Amino acid sequence: MRIGVLTGGGDCPGLNAVIRAVVRKGTDVYGHSFVGFRDGWRGPLQNATVPLGVEAVRGILPRGGTILGSSRTNPYKEDDGVARIRDTLAAHAVDALIAIGGEDTLGVAARLHDEGIPVVGVPKTIDNDLSATDYTFGFDTAVNIAMEAIDRLHTTAESHHRVLIVEVMGRHAGWIALHSGMAGGANVILLPERPFDIDKVCAFVEHRFASHYAPIIVVAEGAVPVAGSLTVKEGELDAFGHVRLQGIASVLETEIRGRTGRESRATVLGHVQRGGTPTAFDRWLATRFGLHAVDAAHDGAWGTMVALRGTRIDRVPLAEATRELKLVPEELYAEAEVFFG
Ligand code: F6P
Repeated sequence: MRIGVLTGGGDCPGLNAVIRAVVRKGTDVYGHSFVGFRDGWRGPLQNATVPLGVEAVRGILPRGGTILGSSRTNPYKEDDGVARIRDTLAAHAVDALIAIGGEDTLGVAARLHDEGIPVVGVPKTIDNDLSATDYTFGFDTAVNIAMEAIDRLHTTAESHHRVLIVEVMGRHAGWIALHSGMAGGANVILLPERPFDIDKVCAFVEHRFASHYAPIIVVAEGAVPVAGSLTVKEGELDAFGHVRLQGIASVLETEIRGRTGRESRATVLGHVQRGGTPTAFDRWLATRFGLHAVDAAHDGAWGTMVALRGTRIDRVPLAEATRELKLVPEELYAEAEVFFG
């Protein structure tokens, strides 16, 4: 069997570990051969390929990013996108495709499966917002990076008696904010799932100063104020229709300073959270996903995605995994709220 592999959407630590496991097991155990498609769906659309054998994956386990490149190309926004993908697969005698991506890349994979293209999915996103899997790889690394930043911000906040606001990624789901905020001892955590009341945030800030600590506010980039209470700028749209978010931390910095008179500073962690070497957990999860994805392709389990359920790796329908985003439930937010203020 000849298998094509692609990585789409925002990159994240652990992508190379998946590719390595797919190629190593696929070659050594099954005798399959591989071709890499460049930059997500752009590869099969534009016939952009790279050789992908055991030599190509040596030494990549700890490396961040993806040796295949990534993009947010959407074949359903291109003329004859599906036909062009079929042509490329035929030209390379590809019998199966392993697509490693988040909601957008796997949403495309689910549609292509419905159109008869043999595809298997691997869930990836630092946001951890894919349904049907307990965790995605990349998330643990992002949480650890954010937690380390929060630890560092505590000491400078306390030295200067300032409010420090840390903006982390997560446009629809606040998993990174929740986990890093709890691990880092945040004064308040603001998530997209739960519009915030700026008066309450300011009350938490004052309470924290009253107990001789300096407040750290962890805010997900997609967090929004209660309707009509503050104005937040919106940015341009990408090929999947997502807004490029900008600036909730700086809005909070200005508002908190204006309302409390306290000195405030915003730190935006941005793509630092997606770069660099994966944690041990992410290497372990990504490797297991890769092993099970190549098994699924070998078995012809088209239209499925590998998923972590407890400690097991299961196969779930791609359609189920991409139907809706996994958001932070009320009860988990309530656990974090115990420490607010
Ligand atoms: O989907 C992963 C993610 O890292 C989001 O958390 C973030 O909003 C987005 O990608 C940023 O995308 P880009 O790298 O295209 O700016």
